[in-house]
Amino acid sequence: MTAPTDDARPADTAALDALFERLWADYAAVTPSAARIQALLAERGEAAPADHIALRTFDLPGIGLDALAAPFLALGYVATGDYTFAVKRLRARSYSHPLGYPRVFISELITAEFSERLQRTARGLAAQVGADPLRGQRWDPPAHRVYEALRAESEYAAWLSAFGIRANHFTVAVHALQGFADLAALNTWLVAQGFGLNDRGGVIKGGPQVHLAQSSTWADQIEWAFADKAATVPSCYYEFAQRFPQADGALYDGFVTDSADRIFESTDHRGGDKT
Ligand code: NI
Repeated sequence: MTAPTDDARPADTAALDALFERLWADYAAVTPSAARIQALLAERGEAAPADHIALRTFDLPGIGLDALAAPFLALGYVATGDYTFAVKRLRARSYSHPLGYPRVFISELITAEFSERLQRTARGLAAQVGADPLRGQRWDPPAHRVYEALRAESEYAAWLSAFGIRANHFTVAVHALQGFADLAALNTWLVAQGFGLNDRGGVIKGGPQVHLAQSSTWADQIEWAFADKAATVPSCYYEFAQRFPQADGALYDGFVTDSADRIFESTDHRGGDKT
């Protein structure tokens, strides 16, 4: 037995690798376009490292933001910023790892600001979660009418009820790509490959002025088994982020609330939009 040290330990990287492999598998299982884009990038020789992942949850005991952050903190992550989304009634925190593992962005819905019915539904879902929600111990989807009732109050709550605690998106680190000059060049290529991009507030959110430019696909539309029937609903999306150096030369490490606010909407149902 050796005493733990402050140095990065090999066991930590094995645990981190396993955790991200699991998160990717759960995510890719409902996001076929992400796996396709990753394969297309690989054909061009791009390793497409992840800039960050995002998790969504309810602010309830056992599954709230702090509960989901704990395993990451135990593996060496440090908090880098707090964010609030007033209209969507979310709070969020970001985390980075000194060894360059993907940043982690965790948001939680402030359930007390919604109806008693939504709160009751959320508590019922949370009660089903096992001790390890990041490793697939998630709740079963509710009945489709319950999902629709949630959606009337919050697209975020409806998405979360259906898909549970899993990565809501993975994000390609565009600044680490070899064959694309910038995010605009990558977007042009993605559209040429047939992928639709979220254009709410413009295709590119942010830019050099805030040290972070982001775009994303629309969420895939997949057939999903609700408690009572199957229905086609938006699942997850793939995001693309280009970070820019700050005055000190280091890449910006945080997140931009206004941009994230529109990226969240990549999982919205879209009335007459073509998918
Ligand atoms: Ni993101």
